Amino acid sequence: MSVLKLNESFVKNFVTAAELDAVAKDIRSAYATLENRSGAGNDFLGWVDLPVNYDKEEFSRIQVAAEKIKKSCDILVVIGIGGSYLGARAVIEFIKSPLYNNMKKDTPDVYFAGNTISASALSELLSICEGKDICVNVISKSGTTTEPAIAFRVFRSLLEKKYGVEGARERIFVTTDKARGTLKEFSTERGYETFVVPDDVGGRFSVLTAVGLLPIAVAGIDISALMQGAAQAREELCNSDVSQNIALRYAMYRNIFYRQGKMAEILVSYEPCAAMLNEWWKQLYGESEGKDKKGLLPDSVIFSTDLHSLGQFVQDGSRIMFETVLSIQNSGTTFAIPNDEANVDGLNFLSGAELDYVNKQAMLGTLLAHNDGGVPNLLLELADREALSVGYLLYFFELACAVSGYTLGVNPFNQPGVESYKKNMFALLGKPGYEAEKEKLTKRLK
Ligand code: PA5
Repeated sequence: MSVLKLNESFVKNFVTAAELDAVAKDIRSAYATLENRSGAGNDFLGWVDLPVNYDKEEFSRIQVAAEKIKKSCDILVVIGIGGSYLGARAVIEFIKSPLYNNMKKDTPDVYFAGNTISASALSELLSICEGKDICVNVISKSGTTTEPAIAFRVFRSLLEKKYGVEGARERIFVTTDKARGTLKEFSTERGYETFVVPDDVGGRFSVLTAVGLLPIAVAGIDISALMQGAAQAREELCNSDVSQNIALRYAMYRNIFYRQGKMAEILVSYEPCAAMLNEWWKQLYGESEGKDKKGLLPDSVIFSTDLHSLGQFVQDGSRIMFETVLSIQNSGTTFAIPNDEANVDGLNFLSGAELDYVNKQAMLGTLLAHNDGGVPNLLLELADREALSVGYLLYFFELACAVSGYTLGVNPFNQPGVESYKKNMFALLGKPGYEAEKEKLTKRLK
């Protein structure tokens, strides 16, 4: 039985059979484009077969390196930005906890750096690292991204001071291009152990490569089960059956709502452990579809927390959105609500009830309320928070994203828009070669 289901009950009043028929044709054609590898960005399709066709020798090296890191440090600092960090952080927090670093455990803390240019964020992490044994996994496909490059300078210098150049070599692990880039060259020169971001896998599709797998393994998660889940998804979802295939059906609904004029999709979860998964999903869909003046804005919430903030807008504000709710069937935790003799809050009718049951009723009540407010809701039902289910979910979202992007008529595998801020930033910072641009920008800022 599949670990992920798509429940369409809460969209059926918002979509006609004619709309489904019309989009089905486009979805089949988009899937064929992906399958035949004939579409834009077809040199970035390595992720499609990755769950079965991955480098087994490297996979074993990742497991060995993870054991070495576990034994030799209190903290693993993972340096990377965008696709080079979101997947690992999403999986660790979803499976373990957003409070993973504060929990009792026999694996190292995992902190993420180089995903911001904030001086305070870097200083705070350095102070957390004081007196601790540290390893570093720097991840950058290009090897030249500013944010991780700055953080790597800082942590490399810290490690070299603390352990010497030789000692630091044993503690620095680099995930980058197999042959190109300054990071690769420097790693070869210094003798760091390196792992590969395959040429044909873009950053936001790279969670099942060494990019995600090494930090995930260090956190004590079974990466074989993660790959097995993704392989199961590939087996079940790589087909053009629009009547059964949940990845294609998810892509269908996204495109129907877009054509209806919706402007945003909100990914909803009732478990705080999904907050970083939401961020991973936002990058995946935002960078893949948001181009050529097209695309749904991907947004996310954690309910019931955000029912007390954005909930008002979703219920009653501009009707610009639909929701995709990720429900975890077996949350893995039992917790009964205690009785209170004084019944101060009047909640004794819930004494002894499971908190997860209450959470699920909050979800069902909200689904109906948001439907009444005119918001369609897709319901994704994930069996549990185990690695296998998570691997399945990741692949599901990647496949649906590619098909949805082709249906929208964009290249889902490039991200030209990301360059604009970099160009301006380098010009303002006075990078050699950007002199003319600097003059233009400085005038505009006066
Ligand atoms: O999805 C992408 O390609 C981007 O988000 C990149 O992952 C991000 O910009 C980091 O790039 P790099 O790994 O080259 O440092």
